[in-house]
Amino acid sequence: MKKTIHLKDTQEKVVLRHVKKTDVDGIWNNFNQVVEEGIYLPVFLPVLSDYEKKTWYDNIKKDNEVCIVAELLSLKNPYNIVGQCEISNSEWEAASHVGILGIIVNSHYRNMGIGKALIDFAISESKRINNKKKIVLSCFSSNRRAIHLYKKLGFKKVGMRKKQFFLNSVYYDEVMMELWIDDYLKL
Ligand SMILES: CC(C)(COP(=O)(O)OP(=O)(O)OC[C@H]1O[C@@H](n2cnc3c(N)ncnc32)[C@H](O)[C@@H]1OP(=O)(O)O)[C@@H](O)C(=O)NCCC(=O)NCCS
Repeated sequence: MKKTIHLKDTQEKVVLRHVKKTDVDGIWNNFNQVVEEGIYLPVFLPVLSDYEKKTWYDNIKKDNEVCIVAELLSLKNPYNIVGQCEISNSEWEAASHVGILGIIVNSHYRNMGIGKALIDFAISESKRINNKKKIVLSCFSSNRRAIHLYKKLGFKKVGMRKKQFFLNSVYYDEVMMELWIDDYLKL
């Protein structure tokens, strides 16, 4: 299953599709760049080990989890992967209907509609493939762009953990949000 979108402003074509093995370097480059930005993820160090990167991919395939990538057709691998949205399984058996969403868009391609399109596609695919009913996520309360996007898509804030993370000498509150997929698809 694939989808094509056109970027806001430039109208460049981006394909949304399920992750392939050849995307792994591009995906981890994006992740590591966001880690280096130092204000969005509760992670200190980039992931450099090929073993860790490959294991991540193998686990996604083994567990049948959804990972949608945004591929810019005009760029060559690994720079062609400009965003990714993963919906992973809960560790709890009784929460197999719940998907946990994580998303990253490369800093050069933000505010162009990729994040919204990625989340929309990943949610539909997680219902179609894994019969997910509900999506949960969390982010730093300071992440205004992400919260704006999640609210626009229909996610509701359901909780807040004060000073949950301490990164580069700053405390961050964690906002928890969730969305019931059938309500989303009805909108
Ligand atoms: C959050 C993120 C995934 C969004 O992806 P994106 O491609 O930029 O998202 P979109 O372009 O679809 O939408 C961004 C929206 O935020 C709005 N926005 C941008 N900056 C904003 C700000 N400071 N405050 C509020 N809204 C803002 C944009 O105007 C746009 O909304 P609109 O379509 O209503 O105009 C991306 O910015 C990102 O990867 N950020 C760094 C990593 C991260 O924060 N990941 C999530 C951690 S939980």
